[in-house]
Amino acid sequence: MFSKHHSFCPAAFVIAVLVVSTAYSTPISILEYGAVANDTSYNASYINGKALFYAVNAANNANASDREVIVPSGYVFSFLPFGIFTGIHNVVVRIDGVLSAFAGDNLLWPNMTDGRTFNIIEFDNSDQVTLTGQGSIVGNGYHWWWYVVLTGLDNRPHMIVTQSVTNFILENLTLLNSPQYHVFLRDNVNATVQFLTVHVDVTEQQSLLESFGLFEDGLPMFPLNTDGIDIAGENITVRHCSVQNFDDSVCIKPANKNYNLTTCSQNMHIHDIFIHLGVGASVGSVPPDPAVNCIRNILFERIHFDHPIKALYVKPNPCPDPERDGTGIVDSITYKDIFADTPLWWPIWVSTQQQHQPGNGADTGCSFFYPLPNTTCPTQGCVPVTRLTIKNFTANGALLSPGVLRCNETNPCRDFYFEDVNIQTDTGFPFGVNYLCHAIENFTIVGASSPLQCVYNASSEDDDIPVALKHPMVRRALNSRKFP
Ligand SMILES: *[C@@H]1O[C@H](CO)[C@@H](O)[C@H](O)[C@H]1NC(C)=O
Ligand SMILES: *[C@@H]1O[C@H](CO)[C@@H](O)[C@H](O)[C@H]1NC(C)=O
Ligand SMILES: *[C@@H]1O[C@H](CO)[C@@H](O)[C@H](O)[C@H]1NC(C)=O
Ligand SMILES: *[C@@H]1O[C@H](CO)[C@@H](O)[C@H](O)[C@H]1NC(C)=O
Ligand SMILES: *[C@@H]1O[C@H](CO)[C@@H](O)[C@H](O)[C@H]1NC(C)=O
Ligand SMILES: *[C@@H]1O[C@H](CO)[C@@H](O)[C@H](O)[C@H]1NC(C)=O
Ligand SMILES: *[C@@H]1O[C@H](CO)[C@@H](O)[C@H](O)[C@H]1NC(C)=O
Ligand SMILES: *[C@@H]1O[C@H](CO)[C@@H](O)[C@H](O)[C@H]1NC(C)=O
Ligand SMILES: *[C@@H]1O[C@H](CO)[C@@H](O)[C@H](O)[C@H]1NC(C)=O
Ligand SMILES: *[C@@H]1O[C@H](CO)[C@@H](O)[C@H](O)[C@H]1NC(C)=O
Ligand SMILES: *[C@@H]1O[C@H](CO)[C@@H](O)[C@H](O)[C@H]1NC(C)=O
Ligand SMILES: *[C@@H]1O[C@H](CO)[C@@H](O)[C@H](O)[C@H]1NC(C)=O
Repeated sequence: MFSKHHSFCPAAFVIAVLVVSTAYSTPISILEYGAVANDTSYNASYINGKALFYAVNAANNANASDREVIVPSGYVFSFLPFGIFTGIHNVVVRIDGVLSAFAGDNLLWPNMTDGRTFNIIEFDNSDQVTLTGQGSIVGNGYHWWWYVVLTGLDNRPHMIVTQSVTNFILENLTLLNSPQYHVFLRDNVNATVQFLTVHVDVTEQQSLLESFGLFEDGLPMFPLNTDGIDIAGENITVRHCSVQNFDDSVCIKPANKNYNLTTCSQNMHIHDIFIHLGVGASVGSVPPDPAVNCIRNILFERIHFDHPIKALYVKPNPCPDPERDGTGIVDSITYKDIFADTPLWWPIWVSTQQQHQPGNGADTGCSFFYPLPNTTCPTQGCVPVTRLTIKNFTANGALLSPGVLRCNETNPCRDFYFEDVNIQTDTGFPFGVNYLCHAIENFTIVGASSPLQCVYNASSEDDDIPVALKHPMVRRALNSRKFP
């Protein structure tokens, strides 16, 4: 009654039948599909990618009790992607061992026919897929990071990608050192991401960037885009996860009218997350788009930051050509019960994404060092932020003033509500215990023990500047404005 589909492997067949007689479920091991452990060669990596690919597709065609694939514990499998998992329905992939991305020459990494690189694991147009287990996926990103810094060529795979997937569960795994993003859910509906650990070796990233003069006083000046968990879609929960990295830790990406399953990234609950370093629990960036890029109704709750570079980070992007560029929506974003220990840069940033790298297509013209003298950060009115709520946010030992909240007078932001925001800053630089504000209508600030207010001019706290300038980090940051 449980005839197995892989007739080329009679030993596995016998074992499977024996197991079935005592247990209902018979996970399909990738070993049954020829996977070889402990071999980091290209060929072994290729064989292992192929084994996982065929095992998942076999599970997808199997009867109810056989729809689980296992990467067994106690094994390390070097891995190259064999293809995209497409049209998978009601399958569990359990990784109890280790999948380790091929760490040899990155020029051997396979590409799709259109030239885009294969991600390490990608599910497209699928439903009810669960990716779980006590194991890990190792990205071996180091040589990819070197390559991108050295050559400026960036063809890096992400680690786990889903495209137009419904009812996806991603849980329990440890994800290490992805070449690029660790998790990237695109156009997903009804997803849950839980009990995940994302860990980037920031010491290695730091020494790499230092050797190119791209690291200043604990701050990477060149984002390596090793984002933690990035999501575009609808009805999504991310909970009980831990992320250490140097870029967006949890980041909501926009969706628009061209998406298949939703037209707006919306209805998401991100809660009980621990973040070490990272540039924040982020929204965006949201570039304008003729199809209206949209993020709406997102709740971040109980996020604990340890030494974040930024903590609460909302990034509406500018539109150099409003006629062509279109518009965007960032509406009803709530941050509640948040704690940040020692923010290394801005505790709160709501403005154009700070990205100003020569030769980088994502350049927004917004300096990392804005609003220090001679820096710019343009805003425009195409992506206004509306109904932003921050309730019960405490930050201790912030390097700088509490935050920057800048919109554009041609289409202001509105309906900001900040309650019990307590930010203790070490320098009060550069505008005291206040926000630098521009073009926000109907902004309510209540309940903080030391009420923060808006200032509208970065130099209005001139008296504090000589004191702040003595702070060694500010001093060195001022001296090393490599990306003015
Ligand atoms: C893989 O290598 C480890 C460590 O050398 C060893 O303990 C393990 O038995 C090996 N596994 C296989 C399947 O060869
Ligand atoms: C890798 O596989 C190819 C084709 O299957 C074969 O020609 C080659 O000898 C293999 N290399 C090694 C090192 O096993
Ligand atoms: C599924 O079960 C049916 C009958 O129970 C059987 O005929 C069929 O071969 C099975 N298919 C697979 C792929 O195991
Ligand atoms: C994939 O494309 C990149 C350039 O985008 C290239 O460097 C690499 O060699 C290609 N991989 C293969 C296996 O051809
Ligand atoms: C995933 O982790 C949670 C929490 O530790 C646990 O309850 C659950 O059983 C785990 N799931 C699997 C499939 O191991
Ligand atoms: C998502 O879940 C909701 C609530 O359970 C359900 O109404 C909806 O049909 C689901 N959407 C899809 C595409 O499965
Ligand atoms: C999202 O969830 C809501 C409430 O459960 C449901 O009505 C809606 O259909 C879901 N969205 C999609 C695209 O399934
Ligand atoms: C919509 O689906 C098509 C076909 O699968 C795919 O090529 C496209 O990337 C999807 N669009 C989005 C925004 O996910
Ligand atoms: C404020 O948030 C912290 C977590 O940062 C939490 O421990 C505390 O209970 C919250 N206070 C209230 C009044 O909800
Ligand atoms: C700002 O630029 C002007 C003109 O280039 C220069 O004279 C001035 O010293 C600069 N100020 C700082 C603080 O760099
Ligand atoms: C607001 O947008 C207008 C039109 O794009 C632009 O000219 C102006 O400089 C912007 N204001 C700020 C403060 O960036
Ligand atoms: C001002 O914003 C609050 C939310 O903070 C909203 O409830 C209220 O309706 C807004 N008032 C006006 C006049 O728009």
